[in-house]
Amino acid sequence: MPKNTLSVTDNRTGNAYELNIENGCIRTADLRQIKTGAEDFGLMGYDPAFLNTANCKSKITFIDGDKGILEYRGYPIEQLAEKSTFLEVAYLIMNGELPAQKQFDDFKYQVTHHTYVHENIKAFMDGFRYDHHPMSILASTVAALSGFYPEASKVKDAAVRRAQIIRMIAKMPTIAAFSYRHSLGMPYIYPDNDLSYAGNFLSMVRRMGETKYQPNPSLERALDVLFILHADHEQNCSTTATRLVGSSVAAGVTALYGPLHGGANEAVLRMLREIGSISKIPDFIKKVKEGGGETKLMGFGHRVYKNYDPRAKVIKRIADQVFDVTGKNPLIDIALELEKIALQDEYFVKRKLYPNVDFYSGIIYEAMGFPVEMFPVLFAIPRTVGWLTQWEEMITDSEQKIARPRQVFLGAKRRDFVSMDKRKAL
Ligand code: SDX
Repeated sequence: MPKNTLSVTDNRTGNAYELNIENGCIRTADLRQIKTGAEDFGLMGYDPAFLNTANCKSKITFIDGDKGILEYRGYPIEQLAEKSTFLEVAYLIMNGELPAQKQFDDFKYQVTHHTYVHENIKAFMDGFRYDHHPMSILASTVAALSGFYPEASKVKDAAVRRAQIIRMIAKMPTIAAFSYRHSLGMPYIYPDNDLSYAGNFLSMVRRMGETKYQPNPSLERALDVLFILHADHEQNCSTTATRLVGSSVAAGVTALYGPLHGGANEAVLRMLREIGSISKIPDFIKKVKEGGGETKLMGFGHRVYKNYDPRAKVIKRIADQVFDVTGKNPLIDIALELEKIALQDEYFVKRKLYPNVDFYSGIIYEAMGFPVEMFPVLFAIPRTVGWLTQWEEMITDSEQKIARPRQVFLGAKRRDFVSMDKRKAL
């Protein structure tokens, strides 16, 4: 039976080492024993952007990037999108199992009855200019929330952790909707506890003079499925930020905001508008291929998926249901043609660039009447359960401690201070 070890010979010294292999990994700390002498610090692994580094052990989400597989706690994303609801999926992600009816009812009651925010949040939010990007309002407001729940710092207390997670899941839609209403100079709409999670969000965003808002069932279901698809995605950039910072969803929101991550859905819409028509697609593709990486086909490519993002397939199917209600977003024709051309072009095929979760989602959000600035906010709302479940897994992992990576120092060697009169301008 072959041993689960790696035999390493350091050719600088001729010394041999046996490194244990566990779960397909070696412990990078085991490299430290490989030294050229007593003074040597020992070997480290060098892996900018963690291209091949496991930062944690996790049981939450499994992705097979080559096969385009995504599973939450073992359940395929396609089945959850078809048969479940966001709140049920949130329970699954948090607890590892689908809830029985009473468990679900209790969880739903908890979330529904924590949707309100302190009235001071409105005063806080009113301090932003009307045209402040809603993602920066969201990040700031989420960070400020911690001041309203000082007990949240007791992270070793499981009951306190769970209470805060429920609060965040419940309040993100309220804060997001308030930021949207603020941008329009419209009054904030309070949560309606009779509505579903997605329906309540639509009510807080859309309600005008009517005493009760009734969301369109197709749009409500489409948004709920989009929330399911965005709930978690293992160790992506914003989840890693949340794990590393270890203390706030604000870290996740700010990491998600960028155009290469959760801001890509906003960037896709701007790209499709810039292309403007199907006839202009070849010129745009040429610009991407010859631009040396300057111009990207936004919504395409992924660090892990080297196949079609399974979420993009589901989102593409939702588009038709939404358009049946809202009317077709003409940008879908440009997106479909862009995908068709790109998937036949050697540049994209060779680099295994396929549509990702952001390629089609923005077209749906726009058809539902959301401005592009709200698109990353619509990503952050459902991702909150993923960030916080991953955070809790980190907090309760006895192997984890405050993150403090090493560096490869290539700077100036030690030297003495030089007085001003002896310096030369460089
Ligand atoms: C999300 O990690 C997650 O799980 C994230 C996420 C989640 O749910 O949390 O799935 C959500 O962030 C999805 C990704 C959204 N971003 C975009 O759509 C922005 C466009 N895509 C890229 O910028 C890019 O594909 C990344 C950032 C997503 C991934 O980049 P990598 O893995 O660092 O790959 P790379 O930049 O090294 O690219 C490899 C090659 C390069 O060309 P060469 O240097 O080999 O010549 O592919 C090229 C890149 O220039 N390339 C693209 C491209 N993406 C990569 N070229 C044109 N258009 C693109 N979109």
